[in-house]
Amino acid sequence: MPALLVRDLAQVVLPAGGRPPLRGSALGEVRVVEDAYVLCDDGRIAAVGPMSELRSEELPADVVELDARGRAAVPGLVDCHTHACFAGDRVAEFELRARGASYEELHAAGGGILATVRATRAAGEEALTAAVERHRRWMHAHGTTTFEAKSGYGLDRDTECAQLRAVASSGGLPTWLGAHAVPPEFPDADEYLDFALEEVLPEAARLAVAADVFVERGAFDAAQARRYLNACRDAGLALRLHADQFTEAGGVPLAIELGARSVDHLEATGPDGVRALAGSDVAAVLLPVAALFLGRPMPPARALVDAGAIVVLATDFNPGSAFCESLPVVMNLACTQLGLSPSEALAACTVNAAHVLGCADRAGRVEPGYAADLVLLDASDWRYLPYHLGGEQVANVVKEGEVVWER
Ligand code: NIG
Ligand code: FE
Repeated sequence: MPALLVRDLAQVVLPAGGRPPLRGSALGEVRVVEDAYVLCDDGRIAAVGPMSELRSEELPADVVELDARGRAAVPGLVDCHTHACFAGDRVAEFELRARGASYEELHAAGGGILATVRATRAAGEEALTAAVERHRRWMHAHGTTTFEAKSGYGLDRDTECAQLRAVASSGGLPTWLGAHAVPPEFPDADEYLDFALEEVLPEAARLAVAADVFVERGAFDAAQARRYLNACRDAGLALRLHADQFTEAGGVPLAIELGARSVDHLEATGPDGVRALAGSDVAAVLLPVAALFLGRPMPPARALVDAGAIVVLATDFNPGSAFCESLPVVMNLACTQLGLSPSEALAACTVNAAHVLGCADRAGRVEPGYAADLVLLDASDWRYLPYHLGGEQVANVVKEGEVVWER
């Protein structure tokens, strides 16, 4: 692959708060280089700086140039929480909810997650892979260059493993969400977990990088989640939890007790949970689109940042509670609904999201040695990224030194 010189950029933005994960005031520190270039070589950032320091005579002979006049660049965005591997849709439920039905009612009536489980089981691995690839193209168009995606719509051995393979073969980082819901063929959560840990975990641990569980009434309680997560940790997986989406059901203390990588959602988290997270190394992954989509309260983002917690943003892209793959929309909600600044929002879905995925040494920054992942905006001020709600502000997306998307 030839080297790529992105030249004459109006700005390059570098999250600057030191070594990730970033907390407190470090979250909002950015360095903006005006009239800048970025040189990518062999899939990595080779150099970044002002055009005045570019030494043309030192460029590789086969370098390809990208004229970026009038454009600002930010690091490739990192979406650390998606459910991008699914078949079917829930558009009919979307209408039912618009007419007043609640997400929890639909779930209790066998719809919701279980409706997507039926469609995903019936799809086959080839169709699931095609679905993740399609969703990855959607993510590229919004500037996401690194994504995680969970299983959890199979809940049987073959479909869960097919989901994890589909994510990996599409370039995503797979998380085994083996405890998402109790499928109808099991009488209760405990018997389902007996099966999942005995029959699915050994293969899932080979395919996934992390494990996740939905701690909520109607899903798994804290004791069941502890059993599941302990077994997953023993099998070598990093631990994540969906918790406090509707109720505080013990997911936050459990995440801290087990030293989980993250606890995600937190729409229902109160002051004790905020304090506890601030005193821990567990990242708080906030999903404001899910709150918006379901008409729920927003998570206590400002309190978490001010208390010193590790705050992260992600889409939660899924067919039920957050049919939205756009991190720029998430960043807009962070600025308009969560009380974060544009630079805090940027760090939360770049460096801190990469930390959650265990890849903060290669993703989330525009610095020599990091993966050459960049988003070029159709604007000369990088803050158009959160500012232009629903806009077409992403102009070019570079992943590992190659243009993977252009408007
Ligand atoms: O993070 N809360 C549980 N899981 C997903 C929703 C999945 C679905 O509705 O299909 C979430 O919101
Ligand atoms: Fe989720």
